[in-house]
Amino acid sequence: MSGPLVVLVGPMGVGKSTVGALLAERLHTSFRDSDADIVAAQGREISEIFVEEGEPYFRELERAAVRTALAEHDGVLALGGGAILDASTRALLTEHRVVYLAMGVDEAVKRTGLNVARPLLAVNPRRQWRELMEARRELYTEVARAVVSTDDRTPEEVAQAVLDALELKEA
Ligand code: S3P
Repeated sequence: MSGPLVVLVGPMGVGKSTVGALLAERLHTSFRDSDADIVAAQGREISEIFVEEGEPYFRELERAAVRTALAEHDGVLALGGGAILDASTRALLTEHRVVYLAMGVDEAVKRTGLNVARPLLAVNPRRQWRELMEARRELYTEVARAVVSTDDRTPEEVAQAVLDALELKEA
């Protein structure tokens, strides 16, 4: 199978970038993040793109960025939390080793509630989180070969759980 060794999906703040970087280190490969690709190409933050262009515009950029990264990258790839909203992205992901990093609402609010860089949770984070997850939980689960809970786990423990779930050996 070509493409990334591991693709991480899951909601914002769950630790995809932190865990992804650790996984890449342990697998002696490189880490890539579709949000970072968009920021680099656009020369502005994602929160600015949301405000200046609106969410649909961002989702288009995201769809293209994910497609490119899946085709080009052979290391560990993290996708933005909303990437799985797009049906064509979900179809592409069926060909890949996707892991859903999950967390409960308490953990989510603790990790993202006060983060102004996360436009989708700016107001009433607890309620917004619940609504977001009601719309997305099934989609994350649908694309994933494995679900790894991050609650009460350190990033190192989560990385280990991902390796175990995919039966990947360290290089
Ligand atoms: C989003 C998640 C963010 C970013 C944007 C929208 C979402 O990525 O793409 O703010 O819809 O869940 P992270 O999951 O990397 O925070």
